[in-house]
Amino acid sequence: MGKLDGKVAIITGSASGIGRATAKLFAHEGARVVVADYDAEQGLQVAADIHETGREATFLHTDVRVPEQVQAMIQKTVTTYGHLDILYNNAGIPGDQAATGECSIDNWDNVVTTNLRGVFLGMRYAIPEMIKNGGGVIINTASVNGMIGLPYHPAYTASKGGVIQLTKTAALEYAQHNIRVNCICPGGIWTNIIKTFWGDQFDEEMVKREVTKYQPIGRFGQPEEIARLALFLASDDSSFCTGAPFIADGGSLAGPMPG
Ligand SMILES: NC(=O)c1ccc[n+]([C@@H]2O[C@H](COP(=O)([O-])OP(=O)(O)OC[C@H]3O[C@@H](n4cnc5c(N)ncnc54)[C@H](O)[C@@H]3O)[C@@H](O)[C@H]2O)c1
Repeated sequence: MGKLDGKVAIITGSASGIGRATAKLFAHEGARVVVADYDAEQGLQVAADIHETGREATFLHTDVRVPEQVQAMIQKTVTTYGHLDILYNNAGIPGDQAATGECSIDNWDNVVTTNLRGVFLGMRYAIPEMIKNGGGVIINTASVNGMIGLPYHPAYTASKGGVIQLTKTAALEYAQHNIRVNCICPGGIWTNIIKTFWGDQFDEEMVKREVTKYQPIGRFGQPEEIARLALFLASDDSSFCTGAPFIADGGSLAGPMPG
């Protein structure tokens, strides 16, 4: 028996990285999974990979910045599978590197619209469906950088801090409707986003060396390690958890490293 048997789950940003690992794990645990992303090629591949294992998945082309597309994502899921149990608002981008005094307005708008407004839109359209269905689970992706600053990424840190607060607010509003809302704050996880974060300075060996200076566990996390936390939050194993940020960061927020 799977931990998500009979459940219907949407995962945004699941064409790659953490979202892809989570889509595969949720399907393995019995959920019917909607792979939602604006990358159609990779998203279709993830759905095909899941089908090959004999599990159920549908790809929905969705740009989380666009309200009509997010609304359509929720509606098509309910039409296809009859209801919605789990929404994982995970799509996110780092944006360009620039100090606050030099950050372009376009970069600010794009990052905040994707990472924060995208999460709001997912909840905005999913919550009424979950109420009709008698409850549900929402997981949002924040970051350790929603808790501490990250120089040259003002829009990213502000958007992720906003996700934590939005998560707490929605949890308070909907606890009595049997909807649990939590967020995950990953540390450095080895996905495509790491390349984007470092931009022109990306060098695999150097980046892997650097991470040991601030993640006591001494390595990047793997997407599957976040997927397993998402599974805990999506399943009844976390039945008493709501309104909380869950940190998975190899110890980086515990304090400065000695030496
Ligand atoms: N990897 C890390 O170290 C790390 C750390 C903290 C938080 N996060 C967060 O985890 C989440 C997943 O990132 P990842 O590391 O798996 O990176 P990733 O780049 O591998 O995956 C991000 C996915 O989001 C999709 N996406 C981006 N903008 C979108 C949009 N507007 N509409 C629909 N899909 C969109 C991309 O196509 C991609 O499939 C992000 O929210 C990211 O900020 C990652």
